[in-house]
Amino acid sequence: MSAPLIETRGLVKHFGGVQAIRGVDFTLAEGELRCLIGPNGAGKSTFFKLLTGQIKPTNGSVLFRGTDITALQAHEIARRGIGVKTQVPSVFNGLSVRENLWIAAARHRKGKAIAQAVEAQIERLMLGRFAASVTGQLAHGQRQRVELGIVLCGEPNLILLDEPAAGMTEEERGRTAEMIVEINRDHPLIVVEHDMAFIRSIARRITVFNQGAILMEGDVDEVFNSQAVRDVYLGKAVAA
Ligand SMILES: Nc1ncnc2c1ncn2[C@@H]1O[C@H](COP(=O)(O)OP(=O)(O)OP(=O)(O)O)[C@@H](O)[C@H]1O
Ligand SMILES: [Mg+2]
Repeated sequence: MSAPLIETRGLVKHFGGVQAIRGVDFTLAEGELRCLIGPNGAGKSTFFKLLTGQIKPTNGSVLFRGTDITALQAHEIARRGIGVKTQVPSVFNGLSVRENLWIAAARHRKGKAIAQAVEAQIERLMLGRFAASVTGQLAHGQRQRVELGIVLCGEPNLILLDEPAAGMTEEERGRTAEMIVEINRDHPLIVVEHDMAFIRSIARRITVFNQGAILMEGDVDEVFNSQAVRDVYLGKAVAA
């Protein structure tokens, strides 16, 4: 069997007295689309930050295609192709959609290849109508798509999406779900989301975080029917 795309071994992160991640062993296969769920404060965003090198673990390691990347700087990890859309927006609001994508694409390409990548993502993300618009003036859902475009322009080998559908209308959520499934045809993804209907529409395999640890992993039905998972959501409609 080939090495997993990404793997964590005994990953631990403490912030002072807060044990945000408590010994996570996680593996993602090449080509996979994995959903990460769990209540507020479960450690999902912290886990992403450990994968991208934005923060360093207290203990444990991160392996990318079998290579230990734990000690690498965030920019070195980004260069290896781990792209992330964080919970906090990272677009330049004063620039147009096309300019934002151009900046992202120009980090990895030269000459004509930049424009090709930009136009390909504009088409894929159905941003054509807004390509010349000032990004800060777009609707929230459209801006989120620009963020996705920025990640895709980086030619990622792995895409991490932290709450890609947050604050979107029902229609935008549906469109985003379709895009994620489409993107997964040629990119592995890990998607953190709270919206269970959204998870249901894209998920194959789900990892449930709770209090910094993996509570369970399984397919959609196993997870949504699990009493343990229902319990950690304290009656929130997990199966909705
Ligand atoms: N920089 C930090 N300093 C101190 N504590 C932190 C820091 N970042 C996260 N934490 C704490 O670590 C725990 C996990 O937080 P994290 O943001 O990873 O949760 P999450 O699962 O992403 O939650 P949400 O669903 O609300 O986004 C929380 O208790 C949080 O308060
Ligand atoms: Mg979070």
